[in-house]
Amino acid sequence: MDLSVKVFHSEAANEYLESLAILRVEVFKSFPYLYLGDIEYEKKYLQRYVKSSSFVLVGVFDGLRMVGASTGLKLIEEDSNIQSSFVKAGISIESIFYFGESVLIENYRGRGIGNIFFHEREKKALTYPEVVTTCFCSVVRESNHPLRPSTYVPLDVFWAKKGYNKQNFCCEMEWKDIDQEQVTKKELQFWLKKIR
Ligand SMILES: CC(C)(COP(=O)(O)OP(=O)(O)OC[C@H]1O[C@@H](n2cnc3c(N)ncnc32)[C@H](O)[C@@H]1OP(=O)(O)O)[C@@H](O)C(=O)NCCC(=O)NCCS
Repeated sequence: MDLSVKVFHSEAANEYLESLAILRVEVFKSFPYLYLGDIEYEKKYLQRYVKSSSFVLVGVFDGLRMVGASTGLKLIEEDSNIQSSFVKAGISIESIFYFGESVLIENYRGRGIGNIFFHEREKKALTYPEVVTTCFCSVVRESNHPLRPSTYVPLDVFWAKKGYNKQNFCCEMEWKDIDQEQVTKKELQFWLKKIR
């Protein structure tokens, strides 16, 4: 393995959007996301992120191939659906840097890349004096979900170790699960960390 990490800002991430779309569809089809994704839809959906001035993409490469990625941007540039959860919770959206996905192909896990994803995105968040908190959200699934693998270990311990606290507010997103005919709503719970 010839692993390297590269960080791209705004439009500079454009050429990696297809790789990111492929990674999202591949990694998020597993529990707990169970996302039945469509690469063309993903590419379109990701387009608007590279147009955001605060967007950051942390890419992990094995040689020339992107095998993992993680993203973030200021919450004021994110979707209003996510912003509104903070407004309802009485938190100023200008003070938040929002982390999108962290996706890494399974063979490459357990080598510290998840830690690098947090480090690089928090470093970007700290470049904005008005930002005091970083956050992400994670899908809520029932513990006895039929598609939960017996070996599945939630990432909660990892996130808590990185300094993130689970909040009592959520947002809703909808997608089609790999075992479903219809799109259904999911609840995603927020995790926050004070960075200054
Ligand atoms: C999240 C993800 C990117 C982490 O990648 P990773 O490179 O394996 O993580 P690391 O090797 O940096 O591990 C980070 C730490 O968490 C620990 N850890 C990793 N997975 C863990 C788990 N399932 N349970 C508990 N601890 C875990 C590691 O031991 C390590 O601890 P350390 O820093 O004390 O050594 C990867 O697991 C992934 O792609 N998961 C699927 C997608 C997903 O759920 N993404 C998150 C939401 S978008």
